[in-house]
Amino acid sequence: MTAPPVLELRDLRKVFPVKGSFGRVTGEVRAVDGVSLTIPQGQVYGLAGESGSGKSTIARMIMGLAEPTSGDILLDGVSILGRQASLAHRQRVQMVFQNPGASLNPRRTVGQSIRVPLDAHGASGDRRRRVGDLLDMVQLPRHFADRYPHELSGGQKQRVAIARALAVEPRLLVLDEPTSALDVSVQARVIELLESLVADLGLTYLFISHDLSLMRNFAQTVGVLYLGKIVETGPVAQVFRAPQHDYTRLLLASVPVISAEEEAMRPVIPLINGEIPTAEDLLALREQANLKEAKT
Ligand SMILES: Nc1ncnc2c1ncn2[C@@H]1O[C@H](COP(=O)(O)OP(=O)(O)OP(=O)(O)O)[C@@H](O)[C@H]1O
Ligand SMILES: [Mg+2]
Repeated sequence: MTAPPVLELRDLRKVFPVKGSFGRVTGEVRAVDGVSLTIPQGQVYGLAGESGSGKSTIARMIMGLAEPTSGDILLDGVSILGRQASLAHRQRVQMVFQNPGASLNPRRTVGQSIRVPLDAHGASGDRRRRVGDLLDMVQLPRHFADRYPHELSGGQKQRVAIARALAVEPRLLVLDEPTSALDVSVQARVIELLESLVADLGLTYLFISHDLSLMRNFAQTVGVLYLGKIVETGPVAQVFRAPQHDYTRLLLASVPVISAEEEAMRPVIPLINGEIPTAEDLLALREQANLKEAKT
């Protein structure tokens, strides 16, 4: 029998009510509109899409920070939804957020921050040594355990956030724009670190970014999210070489070309004329339609 995928999303949906004046519900936003995907163990799935396409809403539902309207989320073949889902099971998913500054407590040293999940999970053994090992893993000096967040650079803070996420030995890391707040050069080094960790630790990632170029050398599979739906998915090389959806082409068109090898992977299909409406455009249109309806 083959092992189930580490993560499986089945027809996942999240609908938010849209409130007008006086808090009246005037419509709804289908932030996530029937998303299904699977990530086998050891693989990286790159979820791309522009602002408002529903990326973080998917991440929040996987983390249990938002309740799906419908659909299911399975971790190692077992649903993490519903009351029967155990806390221990849920905690096998950890998340790294976009803003490393906001995710660390400014009054805690790096060591204390990393120790929080160890204490919460009643980890056995020498905590100080374990913190040191985790700092090694993210390529920070061990004496950083005594530093405070304000003494660290953005890239260093993000390494601490990664160390903390790794502390409980998760099965899956959900990385929601983990490098978009960092300088380009720092970004590349954090991506390198994430790449080496996924290989060394047998981890599995859901890597979320509006930037498709980050996924080219990193993910095995990409999915392109547009208005809450995956409009295109496939092996990364295939999606880069022959994108099928206009929106994917638009995302790829903004990818800078670096090497001849990568030049060969540039989409051959020309960009469509005219612009694809953004999620915000469509929302504004919907709002206008709602207003009209309310008046008539
Ligand atoms: N709590 C909420 N209440 C109402 N609407 C919400 C809520 N959270 C998200 N939305 C809406 O759901 C849609 C998807 O938002 P989401 O944050 O998932 O997008 P995103 O792809 O992560 O965008 P970004 O790239 O800007 O982070 C947007 O239209 C957003 O306005
Ligand atoms: Mg987001």
